[in-house]
Amino acid sequence: MKKITIAIDGFSSCGKSTMAKDLAKKIGYVYVDTGAMYRSVTLFAMQNNLFSKDGSVKTTELEKRMKDIQISFVFNNETGRPDTYLNGELVEKEIRTLEVSSHVSNIATIPFVREAMVAQQQRMGKDKGLVMDGRDIGTTVFPEAELKIFVTASPEVRAKRRFDELNEKGMPADFDDIFENVKERDYIDSHREVSPLRKANDAIELDNSNMTIAEQSEWLMQKFTDACKKIQ
Ligand code: DC
Repeated sequence: MKKITIAIDGFSSCGKSTMAKDLAKKIGYVYVDTGAMYRSVTLFAMQNNLFSKDGSVKTTELEKRMKDIQISFVFNNETGRPDTYLNGELVEKEIRTLEVSSHVSNIATIPFVREAMVAQQQRMGKDKGLVMDGRDIGTTVFPEAELKIFVTASPEVRAKRRFDELNEKGMPADFDDIFENVKERDYIDSHREVSPLRKANDAIELDNSNMTIAEQSEWLMQKFTDACKKIQ
């Protein structure tokens, strides 16, 4: 069967990654979490003193250091999901902290960062057979993707999901802080100049506020089957 490209975009913490990972596993496609890539650049900037005290990015210095940032994914047999590595070091846990979450939007708005990430994402997807999730996958990275999904859920539901996820991992979490962070990132993600978050005209929208993970998986599997039928 011919392989396709699947682009899953949407707001932060709306369950995109869970849906995308599960689908990739079921259909034997590669899964790429592009948020993890922007988070890795953010972690690198934090570790290398590339943020000023007011939270702004030292862009001239970061631009010079971009060549020192290597991001890769290695499939973890235990979890059945890929882990993120930054310059050869496992950073899966470090990139999910609230500190990284609150700095990442400033990194993701920088044009040279986006250019570098998009180029790497396009290389990863050149042979198709992948599920990629992010904000600009259906609009900028793979505008020709055969299946595009745009996921939404209310900010409250999304903050609760992120809160539960951090709790489960035993990481410190405060609901109000997370809620504020979700709303702030929504605003920045959809108002930035380069590749703002928006639904591609040909994307299928899914509001999953009141859906279980199993229901979402089933819905997505159906869309995948439909998209494959179209191209055979
Ligand atoms: O999906 P996430 O919350 O892990 O993404 C982290 C941040 O990265 C988010 O605030 C927006 C940004 N991002 C982006 O700008 N473009 C993407 N393709 C993926 C994420």
